[in-house]
Amino acid sequence: MFRPYSIEPMRERDLMDVVEIEENSGLNRWGYDAYRRELFTNQNSIMIVARNLFMGPSVIGFFAGWTVEDELHVNNVAAHRDYRRVGIGRSLMEAAIDEARGRGVAQVLLEVRASNESAQQMYRNLGFSFVGRRRDYYRLPTEDALVMKLKMG
Ligand SMILES: CC(C)(COP(=O)(O)OP(=O)(O)OC[C@H]1O[C@@H](n2cnc3c(N)ncnc32)[C@H](O)[C@@H]1OP(=O)(O)O)[C@@H](O)C(=O)NCCC(=O)NCCS
Repeated sequence: MFRPYSIEPMRERDLMDVVEIEENSGLNRWGYDAYRRELFTNQNSIMIVARNLFMGPSVIGFFAGWTVEDELHVNNVAAHRDYRRVGIGRSLMEAAIDEARGRGVAQVLLEVRASNESAQQMYRNLGFSFVGRRRDYYRLPTEDALVMKLKMG
């Protein structure tokens, strides 16, 4: 299937776009320095972008996570507001899961806002299931997190 974007490792020059998407996606704020630190100093990080192949912003989605022993933890994943529902979130997740599998990861874990039904639907479609709830995990606004897990085959 044709995709108007490519899935690539994140580079330093992508960071401004990544932060802009983060700020417009209602995610917990990491900010430029935290992403840069992950990129350069955490060899267990998995940082991926969806690069726009047409006119418009250069980066239209990103994934940030890290592996701890045999687990991948999803820290942030988002698609640019103007480019949702064209498969970017799913493609980023699939690429991260593939990369993690290559590193010997056995399961993927993530937290998602209890009210974030679109992300929960995406994760369910990818095979994740609900395994728990963390009370008042999020701030601004305060909200529970649902914990979701994918066991790798
Ligand atoms: C969640 C998010 C990353 C999905 O990205 P996306 O590129 O729009 O998603 P995709 O096009 O890959 O869709 C994958 C599946 O997710 C589900 N989905 C995505 N958006 C949805 C919505 N608004 N309503 C219902 N289901 C939705 C659908 O099942 C979809 O599959 P389909 O299009 O074949 O029906 C995007 O909405 C986003 O950036 N949200 C803000 C940040 C965020 O909440 N991140 C997750 C933090 S845990």
